[in-house]
Amino acid sequence: MTESYALNHHSYDVVVVGAGGSGLRATLGMAEQGLKTACISKVFPTRSHTVAAQGGIAASLSNMGPDHWQWHMYDTVKGSDWLGDTDAMEYLAREAPKAVYELEHYGVPFSRTEEGKIYQRPFGGHTTEFGEGPAVQRTCAAADRTGHAILHTLYGQSLKNNAEFYIEYFATDLIMSEDGQCQGVVAWKLDDGTMHVFNAKMVVLATGGYGRAYFSATSAHTCTGDGGGMVARAGLPLQDMEFVQFHPTGIYGSGCLITEGARGEGGYLTNSEGERFMERYAPQYKDLAPRDYVSRSMTMEIREGRGVGAEGDHIHLNLSHLPAEALAERLPGISESAKIFAGVDVTKEPIPVIPTVHYNMGGIPTNYWGEVLNPTKKDPTAIVPGLMAVGEAGCASVHGANRLGSNSLIDLVVFGRAAAIRAGQVVDADAPNPTLNKASIDNALGRFDGLRYANGDTPTAELRLEMQKTMQADAAVFRTSKTLAEGVEKMTAIAGKMGDLKVTDRSMVWNSDLMETLELTNLMPNALATIVGAEARQESRGAHAHEDFAERDDKKWRVHTVSRIEGSSVALDYRPVITDPLTTEDEGGISLKKIAPKARTF
Ligand code: FUM
Repeated sequence: MTESYALNHHSYDVVVVGAGGSGLRATLGMAEQGLKTACISKVFPTRSHTVAAQGGIAASLSNMGPDHWQWHMYDTVKGSDWLGDTDAMEYLAREAPKAVYELEHYGVPFSRTEEGKIYQRPFGGHTTEFGEGPAVQRTCAAADRTGHAILHTLYGQSLKNNAEFYIEYFATDLIMSEDGQCQGVVAWKLDDGTMHVFNAKMVVLATGGYGRAYFSATSAHTCTGDGGGMVARAGLPLQDMEFVQFHPTGIYGSGCLITEGARGEGGYLTNSEGERFMERYAPQYKDLAPRDYVSRSMTMEIREGRGVGAEGDHIHLNLSHLPAEALAERLPGISESAKIFAGVDVTKEPIPVIPTVHYNMGGIPTNYWGEVLNPTKKDPTAIVPGLMAVGEAGCASVHGANRLGSNSLIDLVVFGRAAAIRAGQVVDADAPNPTLNKASIDNALGRFDGLRYANGDTPTAELRLEMQKTMQADAAVFRTSKTLAEGVEKMTAIAGKMGDLKVTDRSMVWNSDLMETLELTNLMPNALATIVGAEARQESRGAHAHEDFAERDDKKWRVHTVSRIEGSSVALDYRPVITDPLTTEDEGGISLKKIAPKARTF
């Protein structure tokens, strides 16, 4: 090591890393139970990426018409293309109404119906009567700023319940005991350059997704898969990384999100012939088919020469037929984004849009309590003591191969809350904290120091761009054996250059060069696992559309991909999908016949 680092020590029952929707809901739930809880965040909590969530949060409240948790569960199972874990999907759909009413009582300013109930809008893939009936209005909304409303409320409530916040601290690595228990994290305080050791009986990773492994994404620049990176370095696996969601309506050029709520409120897509082409691809639900479906349909229109614009490379989203008052009341945020990022007045002109990377279905494998799994052949659901993961960082797996819109915000709060309930059962507030493994801390400091003084020939920004362009080109909406094989080869070479990084700023205070380098060390294992997992999966399922294997193959591939990453190599294994729900039909649960795999059409 070039330098030695003085350490500031902290001790908590629970340390939550990340202050987005799931991190704050976990933090609040832990603190409410009297657990001594710290939340560490690399950005100010209300700047976490959840703030950008627009359209809403799914729950079968039945405020706008008939709905049922079993219909929500069915849609989630079908949306996942039968790769989700059935117990987790039941838990999500059953707990969703409770979790939303809790948010309401915490003070989330939801939009209201005439009678004062929470307003709900239609979203893609959400239906009635087990996919046989019309689209349902299930997505609870605060105009088109739902994530913003939730995040501010949860932060206020967490403070009220005495959770302690460590803001602008970058968690670099997990502290692991010799026998595989998580004991805390090492963190770097960005504004004064001090180093910190957090000792915890339970660490909860709520670090979000890794959208920034791609060149164009709706995700904030902070979405760098930090939890996945930490887990991979601890020798633990990631799951189902090949499933990357493209949101149909990113603004062409900037990638800025235009909520699916725009189509929920009556907007529709057209091609260069002015045709509402979704009617051909999804005759029943049209523009409100799930995202993977709509993104593929748009891509096909563009490929077949019916894209709009000078280069025929995007699609139009039409809203101008909607009343101006409705746009102002229900969609004020995207009206503003369209003006700023596309120069478009939505009351008069269509918005130019293109499928844009939006969400990672894969992540750190967990059970539905958020406990991190380290699956073995003998025990596919073995738990890592002391470690949980929630939100987009985790993979419970409720979204399987494709997530339904508005099932992300509900995932954040249901599983953030579940993690707190579980921690209340397994964390003993009176027990002493673990004795920390010094070798693990030294390892983390050595890695930090090595990057700080990295003196190779490749600037971080250059290597990051190479990675992003490769992922964008080779792990796209449609994939082929050829593009994936090339992608694996290129990504392996790119990851191989991590040893040649050059960091020019050696300081400790607000060193963005070093921080971006640490982030790149997190993005890289996520990206590698994505492309290697995608090359191996020889079928098409959900967001993984493989042109050389166009059909879903349940016999061989209804399994979770488990990837372990070391340097530039990825070892793949598979674990079974959980097909049993939590409750039987006799106990009031869903009929197994209803959720048996079948062709997925809309
Ligand atoms: O379209 C949207 O408002 C995004 C929602 C989501 O990803 O769940």
